[in-house]
Amino acid sequence: MLVTGGNGRLARALSQVGGSNVQGLSSAELDITNAAAVQSALEQLRPDAVINAAALSSVEASDATPERARSVNATAPGHMAQACDQQGTPLIHISTDYVFGAETLRPWRESDPVSPLNSYGRLKAEGERNALAASRRVCVARVAWLFGDGKDFIANLLRGDVGIVKVAHDQIGSPTPIFPLAERLLGLAARMNAGEAVPPVLHLAGSPPVSRADWVASAFEALQRSGKKIPKLVRVPMAEFVGAVPRPHYSALDCSLATEFFGEELDWRISTAKFGTPAEEIMSA
Ligand SMILES: NC(=O)c1ccc[n+]([C@@H]2O[C@H](COP(=O)([O-])OP(=O)(O)OC[C@H]3O[C@@H](n4cnc5c(N)ncnc54)[C@H](OP(=O)(O)O)[C@@H]3O)[C@@H](O)[C@H]2O)c1
Repeated sequence: MLVTGGNGRLARALSQVGGSNVQGLSSAELDITNAAAVQSALEQLRPDAVINAAALSSVEASDATPERARSVNATAPGHMAQACDQQGTPLIHISTDYVFGAETLRPWRESDPVSPLNSYGRLKAEGERNALAASRRVCVARVAWLFGDGKDFIANLLRGDVGIVKVAHDQIGSPTPIFPLAERLLGLAARMNAGEAVPPVLHLAGSPPVSRADWVASAFEALQRSGKKIPKLVRVPMAEFVGAVPRPHYSALDCSLATEFFGEELDWRISTAKFGTPAEEIMSA
């Protein structure tokens, strides 16, 4: 499997889980915005499948560098899908829950129209459309709130000597354990390579929906059990983060299609209970 954005969080998890079956290429080794370079990498490496984990993944960076964001997140997925299609190679293009942002009373389904609130979400939605328009052997895998690699939201909260952390109680989403996700993505890639029909869009995220504050509280409980000192959690409304790029209040993904496809749910509670356990132990469990 060829994985782009090789130094990124998801790409690293894919390499860790897939071992020698995965070849990750960093942005220095393959710039996905260079269509000719993508084509020549595919011709040389002839992978069984490609997972596009390269992105400008920061919501703030997307606002600050819109041209770069457009070329990486919106344009490149289209020509990458085209190059894969020419070679008959399946492509999994990684996208995000932030393609949604409208008001809703239930988790978002794959069939729901996108409703992004910020430039990151808009460009990722455009990237999805471009990839899907270029090839029929594409699966857009929407993931969300990745955690479990020591570089996640929880790790950021614990950085430094912080006594109090403020976390939104009115932001609902789908925390997704990164190593189980990587296993699923590699399984999906293998099934696509074997010619199995897969849905064009698949929500591969954790269940059930939870507020950011409740999820953090669960992680803190687990950390406390393992003897870690944790800050005091203060629940605040999202509106308190004045000046931040707007984010959806509700971006939880309905993952029933993926549950059917893989035979079980990705339950974030199981992986969150392992906070405080070294990543190597989680990997080998
Ligand atoms: N993290 C989350 O919670 C989350 C949530 C929802 C969706 N996602 C999606 O999941 C995917 C992976 O995210 P992540 O968290 O692993 O992001 P990440 O850690 O920021 O990794 C993205 C990687 O893409 C690389 N990249 C940027 N521009 C590139 C280019 N032109 N060519 C090749 N590589 C390039 C970056 O390399 P450089 O650093 O060298 O630029 C970086 O290593 C993305 O599609 C993201 O939108 C992530």
